[in-house]
Amino acid sequence: MGAPGKGGMDNQRVPTGITGLDEMLGGGLLFNSVAVVKGAPGTGKSCVGMEFISRGASEYGENGLIITFEEFPRQLYRDAVSIGFDLRALEQEGKLRTIFTTPAVFLREIQQPGGIFDRTIEEVSARRVFVDSMTQLERITQDPVQLREIMYTFLNGLLRYEITAVVTQEDAFITGNMSVAEAGLSYIVDTIIQLRYVEISSSIDRALFVLKHRASDHDKRIRRMTITSQGVKVEAAFEGREGILSGNPYITRRLKKAEEFFK
Ligand SMILES: Nc1ncnc2c1ncn2[C@@H]1O[C@H](COP(=O)(O)OP(=O)(O)O)[C@@H](O)[C@H]1O
Ligand SMILES: [Mg+2]
Repeated sequence: MGAPGKGGMDNQRVPTGITGLDEMLGGGLLFNSVAVVKGAPGTGKSCVGMEFISRGASEYGENGLIITFEEFPRQLYRDAVSIGFDLRALEQEGKLRTIFTTPAVFLREIQQPGGIFDRTIEEVSARRVFVDSMTQLERITQDPVQLREIMYTFLNGLLRYEITAVVTQEDAFITGNMSVAEAGLSYIVDTIIQLRYVEISSSIDRALFVLKHRASDHDKRIRRMTITSQGVKVEAAFEGREGILSGNPYITRRLKKAEEFFK
């Protein structure tokens, strides 16, 4: 996806402002592209999206629009406060708007010139959009072909404007396979950021890695991610451990040998 033909802007970067993430992305997201943040419930997808919007509006002069199919704005604002961001204040300053609706209604609006989406994005001069979550589009149809078309229409609707979008999607797999809906979205987005729970020494940590990033090299390592009262932090790579992707890493043989030796 993204904007072909917008000459000279093809490689323009949009920093998320999230500590550690922009370096992984070679400076940030691509201007006028869509990035998906994938993960199981509670891994931190909404936190990443809210921070992208908050920092955009407060630090980069890029106003934001949040489209939520999942939570009442009040709940969303409360979640944002717990990671250090005051969305309500941004809204009062005219730097942010939130639309809480159903996927079916929104899909209709986004295809309608001068509809709620167009009006809101113009009123707030939004440069960043956060959609939470694309998984809810599955409520419109279960048919994989139709769903992929709907996701495409939806994201193209967003990209008619000079905005950069972050969207979330729930990991559906239980068996280890991607659902058809997930696979469909993976093809059409420009950047895929995957969040995972990992179990290390019987505690649960969070991991973040970048699976896809169009038009530039990116950090392929699996990084530790933490959620704090000052936002999301992407930290050092998990070193010397295997099996992170299976969610159950064990210390690599060599490290284990060394540990045994020094016991
Ligand atoms: N200040 C904080 N410090 C540590 N963890 C936090 C903080 N605020 C929220 N969290 C954690 O963030 C998680 C929620 O993340 P969220 O982005 O809503 O997940 P998702 O959208 O993937 O379901 C919860 O597990 C919660 O415990
Ligand atoms: Mg969420």
